[in-house]
Parts: sequence; structure tokens; C-alpha cells
Amino acid sequence: MNRLICTLTLAMMLAPLPLAAKDKTVEINVIPYPQSVEIGKGQFKAAGATFNCDQAIDQKSQRQIKSLADHITLVSGRTCSFASPFGLKASMERNSRIKGFVFLKDASMGPEEYSIEVTKKSCIVKASAYNGFLYSLETLKQLMDPSIFGNDIDGSQRFRIPCVTIKDKPRFSYRGMHLDCARHFFSVEEVKKYLDVMAIFKLNRFHWHLTDDQGWRVEIKKYPRLTETGAFRNGTMVGKQWDSNDGVRYGGYYTQEQMKEIVAYAAAKGITVIPEIDLPGHMLGALASYPELGCTGGPYEVWTRWGVSDQVLCPGKEAMFTFLEDMFTELMDIFPSEYLHIGGDECPKKEWEKCPDCQARIKELGIKGDDKHSAEQYLQSYVTARVQKFLNEHGRKIIGWDEILEGDLAEGATVMSWRGVKGGIEASAKGFDVIMTPNTYCYFDYYQCEEPSIAKEPLAIGGSLPLEKVYSYEPLEGLDANQQKHILGVQANLWTEYIATNDYLEYMLLPRLTALSEVQWCKPSDKDYVRFTKAMEAEAFRIFDILGYNYRKNF
Ligand code: ACM
Ligand code: ZN
Repeated sequence: MNRLICTLTLAMMLAPLPLAAKDKTVEINVIPYPQSVEIGKGQFKAAGATFNCDQAIDQKSQRQIKSLADHITLVSGRTCSFASPFGLKASMERNSRIKGFVFLKDASMGPEEYSIEVTKKSCIVKASAYNGFLYSLETLKQLMDPSIFGNDIDGSQRFRIPCVTIKDKPRFSYRGMHLDCARHFFSVEEVKKYLDVMAIFKLNRFHWHLTDDQGWRVEIKKYPRLTETGAFRNGTMVGKQWDSNDGVRYGGYYTQEQMKEIVAYAAAKGITVIPEIDLPGHMLGALASYPELGCTGGPYEVWTRWGVSDQVLCPGKEAMFTFLEDMFTELMDIFPSEYLHIGGDECPKKEWEKCPDCQARIKELGIKGDDKHSAEQYLQSYVTARVQKFLNEHGRKIIGWDEILEGDLAEGATVMSWRGVKGGIEASAKGFDVIMTPNTYCYFDYYQCEEPSIAKEPLAIGGSLPLEKVYSYEPLEGLDANQQKHILGVQANLWTEYIATNDYLEYMLLPRLTALSEVQWCKPSDKDYVRFTKAMEAEAFRIFDILGYNYRKNF
């Protein structure tokens, strides 16, 4: 009897866990989940393994690969030597027994695509370009113990990687996250930390909202008052008491050098920075600095309250366009991105209706209102078109919020659908490229719990956007094949009226960013909320703890 119990116990101990080898929910906690995963048996030990990196791989990618080798060496105390020979691919083909990590260039792959093939003896990684290699490294790190994300040395940790074959590439090419640094200002270090967590989850566009009624945050050398005056406000409303003011002068801005530093920092992480100058509304920061740019000539004040101001730029004045062209000229020097965001949202037309200059411009251009749009709405289209033409002449393209569809919109503009999905549906039907950022699924300034619990959360702008709702978003729903081709990708927005600290900013970002990353990266058939939340708790939460991010643990 005793022998029987012993035998049974032993058999149970030796037997593989039921389904474990095949069950991705148990084995692989990578977020966003890769497009193809085949799990094998056994593990590869990364600690002490040699890194072989083909010379055909560009130097920038090689440096990233070497930095993983150095980091494993640091945290494991076992040296991962790095070699970068010529003709590694050919020698692999002759002798397939090369051990350790092998990084190869596969020019047939897309720029963000990669594959990883792990056996007990080797880990072969292939990609064609920088982002593909970066994503392979992020995936490898998520396959190891999360302590790989820290700097603590643990000699017992071998950083095992399960034997697995992964073939991966993103569903969408534009995978964005936005940050409003106008309503509240976040330091260079805080912005970098924001970029760090975006990179872990393979996002590749940082939409930086830099100017608004409550502050202008960009140094423009030709217009110094933008930052002397426009970057500071005389206090901030308290909570939701609209007529209050805390009396504390508030502000800040980024120098051109600091913005270039952020652009370079992001680029090293495979992220393009897209700056937004919101125009012609949301412009009190500029108007307070240069009142002659407005319809009435002021006086104007950098706003101390939230909301939408009626005071906007005056398109009747030629000097306003000169200002925009000068300002964008300096901006293009700082931001090399193909796309620049020109805002376009929430521009009240009250002042334009009364302004003699605006009305003269309408007359001069022969603009007529019709049953769809007022003459003043068409005047905004004129502003958009002029800025677009100027930027196009300098090799750039515009993105604007979905209001830019009201009136006429010139070919080549990209529309960011924020008032739900209808702007994206309309724009893609008209042949414009679209980035989906519907407030219904992608506004991370909304509460992240269900309505009944809102009172227990820190004060937010309103709305309810729990993790699961973010995860459930399907950006191509309701679009025909032609429209679908115009959806470049998905972005979430983080407006900061009620977010005054970096701690609270991270709390609103995380963990919803992880759900967003699967909406952006995964095919619908690879999404699985149960698998995702398990991976989030097991992997992402530990990464956040190690890297010192604040996040919402309840979901
Ligand atoms: C927006 O949320 N006003 C684009
Ligand atoms: Zn005017």
C-alpha cells in the first residue's frame, strides 16, 4: 500500500502538468501576444550564453543586442560574451550546431517583424531592421524572469527562456500613445519614463500635445514671449469649481535642446515623436504672448480653467500665418517626423463671426456657407489647407482631429477620430488615412472603473473606461475593405486637466496601456482577455514594480 502511494506520488510528480506544454496561458506571458507561438519542451539558459550577431546587421541594432548581453551579464553575474563575425548566416548554414544566441538579418522580413527560435542549445533571432530587432529583445526579456528588467544582481538566476518558436509582426503600423503636457507639465525625465513603458509594449508613436489654452510648452527662438509669457498661468482652478483659482503660478516649457534629446531618446526605443501644435483654437498660450494674432487684439490671459475658450487665432490677419510658418519652421528642425499634428479640434467661431478681418477674408476668398457648414467652418478649412500646403512643401504631412473634416479637407491629410468612431468611418470612406482614438475606448483620462466605483477613485474628468473595455476595442468594425486599408492604427490619449502629478499620470496609464498594446498589435483571433490578464499580473505588474511605476492593481 505504502509502495503504491509512493509510486503514484512519484508518477504525479514526474508527469507533465496537464496541457501545460501546449497551453499558452501557462507558458508565455508576453504582451502584446505574438502572432504565432509554438511551445516546445525544455529551456534555454540565457545567463552565460554567447551572443553571436551577424555583421550584416546594422550597427545601431547590434548595439541594442550587445546591451542585452551586457545586462544579462550584470544581473546574472555570468558573462555573456558578444561576437559580431562576418558571414555568420553562411556558417550557420554549414554548421547548424552553433550554440548560444544567434542574431541574423533576414531581409525578407518587414521592418517591425521578427522571429525567435529557442531550443535548449540556441536562441536564433531574425529580423530585417531596427524595430524588428528591438521587438525581438523586448519579447526575449518578457520570456525571462521579470527581474531582467531590474539592475539587482542575483547569481542564482539563470534567466531561462522556454523552448519556443515565435513568428511575430504587428497588425497596425501606427501604435500610438498621446500625452498632454500643456494642461500639466511633465519633466524630461518623466516623459522619458513614459516612453520607456511604451517601448516595452511595442508602441511606436508618441503624440506630444505641447500647446493649449493653459500653457505653451515649446521654445521658439523667433517668438520668445511664447515661453516667457505663454508657458505660465496665474493659478489653476481647484477640482471642478469652475470659478476658483488656487493662486499658484504654474508652468514650464521644453527648450529646443530638451525636445531634441527626447526625440533621440524615443528614436533609440523605436518611437517617433509627433508634436502637436493645436490650432486655430486652444491657442490662448500664444495669444497671451502675441495678442496681435487674435481677432480682438486682446488682452488675453493664459487660461486658469479647463474647457474650450472662444478666443482663437484670427485667420483674417496675414501676420497670423507668418507666425505659424515661422513657428513650424523651427518645429520641423526639432522634430524629424513625417507627420506633424496641427490639432483643429474645438475651435468656436463666435469671434470670427464678428471680426472684420475674418469677414473680409471670407469675402476675399468667396467663401459661402451652405446647408452643411457655415462660412466660418469653411474658413477653418482654409487655415488647415494653408498650413498643410506649407508643411507639404517641406516634405511633411498633417494629422488633425476629426473636426478637420468639417468643410473641405485637402488630399493627403490624416484624420484622428476622437469623437467616437464616426469621424474615422467618414474619413476612411472619403479616402483619408485615419488613426482611431475614439474617446469611447481610448481616452485614458476617463475613470478606469465601472460607474458605481467612481467615487472611490482620484478625481478625473469623467467617463468610465475599464481595462476590459479598452481590450475589447476592434478598430476595423463596421468598415468595408476599402475603408480598412486607410486605418493606419490606434492610439490612446491622456489629457491631463485633472492629472497634476507623475504618480497619478502613471496610474491612469497603467495597466490600460498593456490592453491598448494588444489592440494595436494582435490579430482579433489572438486576443484573449483571460490569457491577457493572467500575463498582465504575472509579467507586466512585476515589471511595473521593478521599474517603479505606479499602476492600478484592481481590474
Ligand atoms: C480632443 O479630445 N479635444 C481632441
Ligand atoms: Zn479674426
